[in-house]
Amino acid sequence: LPWMELPPRPKLFDFHGVSMTKCFTDNWDNVQNVKARPDDILIATYPKAGTTWVSQILDLLYFGQTSPERQSSIPIHMRVPFLDLCRPSQPTGKDLVDQLPTSPRLIKSHLPVQFVPKSFWEQNCRIVYVARNAKDTAVSYFHFGRMNMFQPEPGEWSSFLQHFIQGEVVFGSWYDHVRGWWEKKQTHSKLHYMFYEDLIEDTGREIDRLCSFLGLSPSAEERERIRGAVQFDNMKKNKMTNYSTVPSMDLKVSSFIRKGKVGDWKNHFTVAQSEQFDEDYKKKMKNTTLQFRTEI
Ligand code: A3P
Repeated sequence: LPWMELPPRPKLFDFHGVSMTKCFTDNWDNVQNVKARPDDILIATYPKAGTTWVSQILDLLYFGQTSPERQSSIPIHMRVPFLDLCRPSQPTGKDLVDQLPTSPRLIKSHLPVQFVPKSFWEQNCRIVYVARNAKDTAVSYFHFGRMNMFQPEPGEWSSFLQHFIQGEVVFGSWYDHVRGWWEKKQTHSKLHYMFYEDLIEDTGREIDRLCSFLGLSPSAEERERIRGAVQFDNMKKNKMTNYSTVPSMDLKVSSFIRKGKVGDWKNHFTVAQSEQFDEDYKKKMKNTTLQFRTEI
């Protein structure tokens, strides 16, 4: 689309205590009333935690053998619809979920745990939550805001970082999100809480853990095939995973599959920003057993 046809960037506002934009509240009642099925798998994350990576892994685990044409012809955001999303003149995430022909259905959501539609709990669905350390998440989110017209304008890095710390970004506070889901894990046994840093460290091991959670047992050969297919370089050049088919994203400004590293924050944070961040982090993250690694 030429730039004139794109709508202005959405504005942030407070929605039940969480910063949101219209893209994620306009279809609220329909999203809340979604009918989950017992075999649905919800992939829940705070933005930029590795959602696309884990979505591709799950899609390959479930459908890589039975319908390989799926991976080569349908973009990831159609195979694993983003339930919360609603944009003008496009099918809503909720509609895409309703129309999914697969079983199980793989469904993506960035909702904080208190906003998850009740049907997922009633049906006792399996949920895969992916978390990523706050500093790398902030950096990745900043670059995502630069390239995606459906995100508020991120401004300069230094001011974006302050907004991130305050939770004034889409889907609200990272701190509340990762903690809320971590607490949920203590009572919902069908929640697998995984970390981006672990995936980077040993993708094969994390695929094995996912499989034992999901009750899958791919052959060693199949598991290796998947591990190779989801390596950073392969997903970056794969048009069905790199978001090159989405007009609202300007890959010339920044790639969606951008760097894929643990510790890229060191290239963005000044020493003073890092110290301020760490001090605030300690306060917000005290009284939790949840631990992150900012380097490996
Ligand atoms: P960076 O911006 O730090 O590179 P999400 O899918 O939740 O929006 O997360 C996007 C982040 O995951 C981006 O981080 C992207 O590069 C990274 N990512 C996507 N696929 C990856 C892969 N196969 N290996 C490593 N990182 C990956």
